[in-house]
Amino acid sequence: MTKRIGILTGGGDAPGLNAVIRAVTLTASQQYDWEVIGIREGFDGLLAGLPTLSLHAMDVSDLLARGGTVLGAASRGNPFERPMTLPDGTTQMVDVSAEAVERIAALGLDALICAGGDGTMTIGQRLVDEQNARIVGVPKTIDNDLGQTDVTFGFDTAVRTATEALAKLQTTAESHHRIMVLEVMGRNAGWIGLHTGIAGGADVVLLPEIPYRIDLVCDHIKAIRETGRRYSLVVVAEGAQPIDGEQMFHIEGEAEYQKRLGGIAHTVGEQLATCVESEVRVTVLGHVQRGGEPTPRDRFLATGFGVEAVHLVAEEKWGHMVALHGTELVHVPMSAAKEIKHVDPAGSWVRIARDLGIIFGDEPG
Ligand code: F6P
Repeated sequence: MTKRIGILTGGGDAPGLNAVIRAVTLTASQQYDWEVIGIREGFDGLLAGLPTLSLHAMDVSDLLARGGTVLGAASRGNPFERPMTLPDGTTQMVDVSAEAVERIAALGLDALICAGGDGTMTIGQRLVDEQNARIVGVPKTIDNDLGQTDVTFGFDTAVRTATEALAKLQTTAESHHRIMVLEVMGRNAGWIGLHTGIAGGADVVLLPEIPYRIDLVCDHIKAIRETGRRYSLVVVAEGAQPIDGEQMFHIEGEAEYQKRLGGIAHTVGEQLATCVESEVRVTVLGHVQRGGEPTPRDRFLATGFGVEAVHLVAEEKWGHMVALHGTELVHVPMSAAKEIKHVDPAGSWVRIARDLGIIFGDEPG
């Protein structure tokens, strides 16, 4: 029987989302003869009844290498907690999940593929469990912190961008004998920071998983200068925090979902300028890491995830998402995405970095 399936992209974008949309469209139309409907702006667009896009092979022919998502992404669009303004001007969160499922039915969709981060996967799982929705998931994030998948697409592109930035900072650091501090994204996980630090040859890497002491960082940089090398490279993950302090947010907010990490590199930079008595420059890389063309690795992974998501629909594996285990694509419950995956301070890659002489600002045991 022919089906009509929908696809939406939720949460922040990640390079590779368009490759997922392409892979879903090609597989559904060519292998199953299904119709594919693109829902714009995530769950927000679904609830707002935005016009949908009918996707055919021709429409997705140039999507493989394109960054962002042509469907648009809503960074906040949770049908279980939708802000509603009351007559007195105050805002209250209401559960409109039943309405979301009615909208899916009204579009005549037999199933919905949701590509998104831990938030989107959690929403999808709840819609399946509580509203009998027919949803499968495709996990994505540049942070690489989602549970039960070895890697997410977007991560490789972000690491490439950050590593290239560090290489560029190195040549100017060397010319001016400066300390360069580079802040990278990653939320509460240090994967981008750790990979960038190792791949880019950093001297110091500060991660959320290993609270740092600034005096130890100062001592290390002074020791490097005493060897005759007068520049240093410091990578700071946005979620890093001092042993006696807290994480920094560049956007504060009353609700947890409003907060955005960032700015810690400026504090680190100011402290280093004082204790090392050297010129320090700070670069906060920001959304550059999320933009642009996905790397071949991310296109490859995103394409595989998209193809497999269509097969999950065919097998009616509602509430499951595609994941990478080793070299194989498998499926796991969508709820697994929210078991945030952290860098293991006692794991191989931290040890490898230490063996290379990189310090994390702690006193290794
Ligand atoms: O989760 C991806 C990510 O880019 C994080 O690394 C970062 O903290 C956050 O999203 C930024 O969110 P926004 O795009 O809403 O500023």
